[in-house]
Amino acid sequence: MDDLKAKYLGQIAGAGDENALEAIRVAAVGKKGEVALKMRELGKMTPEERQVAGPALNALKDEINSALSAKKAALADAALDERLRTEWLDVTLPTRARRQGSIHPVSQATEELTAIFAELGFSVAEGPRIETDWHNFDALNIPGHHPARAEMDTFYMRRAEGDDRPPHVLRTHTSPVQIRSMELQGAPIRVICPGGVYRADYDQTHTPMFHQVEGLAIDKDISMANLKWVLEEFVKAFFEVDDVELRFRASHFPFTEPSAEVDIRCSWDNGQLKIGEGDDWMEILGSGMVHPKVIAAGGIDPEVYQGFAFGIGIDRLAMLKYGIPDLRAFFDSDLRWLRHYGFAALDMPNLHGGLSR
Ligand code: PHE
Repeated sequence: MDDLKAKYLGQIAGAGDENALEAIRVAAVGKKGEVALKMRELGKMTPEERQVAGPALNALKDEINSALSAKKAALADAALDERLRTEWLDVTLPTRARRQGSIHPVSQATEELTAIFAELGFSVAEGPRIETDWHNFDALNIPGHHPARAEMDTFYMRRAEGDDRPPHVLRTHTSPVQIRSMELQGAPIRVICPGGVYRADYDQTHTPMFHQVEGLAIDKDISMANLKWVLEEFVKAFFEVDDVELRFRASHFPFTEPSAEVDIRCSWDNGQLKIGEGDDWMEILGSGMVHPKVIAAGGIDPEVYQGFAFGIGIDRLAMLKYGIPDLRAFFDSDLRWLRHYGFAALDMPNLHGGLSR
């Protein structure tokens, strides 16, 4: 028995991989292995002999088995060490300056306005870009026949053949997020909803995809005066000036009553856009008091709650603030343009540091 033990423990110690170990296991403690054969001989022994040999064989079997599993673990450790030695990556290597990315002006403007509205008590809400017809229109008091649907140059998604439910749309504005936020949070609410929107339109100041930020404040005592103050605070903080001239124009939206559009004073001399001076006005937002039907569609009681909403064009804000004359260039992915108008990747906009150092 000592010979058997020495033989197998020696083989196990010398095994180079798992296959070799398995072969040793079969030969030693497998069903037809050497230890099993010895066990069979127990039957021919006298009871006295058996009482000694039986436990000794079992002990030998146990010893071989534990040597096998110890060796198996050691082989796995060695394999892991080998992988760790060969598969490594120096995560401290600096990035290559030539390939440094930059923050797109739309992202920059979004970060800046999010920081400003956060200070004013607004959190960020989001909704899907592929929207139901109901959230994009009906819930916002724009029924099927309403001319606003045609005016918005909507992109409709195609339904499967024979499916005559209303098609989904690429959201034409961020206003459906008003409905989704009301459904989700109930009242009171203070949210902004930045994101991409879509309309079939293309010229120097229109692209088929552009960005808006919706604002929504719902509570028991919110008035048009609160709306005006919030917008003025926002515009001053965003353009980093003490005063900006805004023009509130009476307007109409199906989802607000009363409604106002807001323009900002600017000039367009030789294609150069300047803000705060000149005789031109650039429309930057639509706003108003949320229509009671819209509040009801969001599941909130319009007899108790009221509020304001606004929708601002983020790309237009960026054009005005950073002096970018053509909106189309925003989405051309021209690296020279991105390098010129892009922002440093690690400067997070905040109010105390100045937004866009
Ligand atoms: N959704 C409107 C648009 O895209 C803007 C708006 C939002 C107007 C909220 C009023 C209130 O033109």
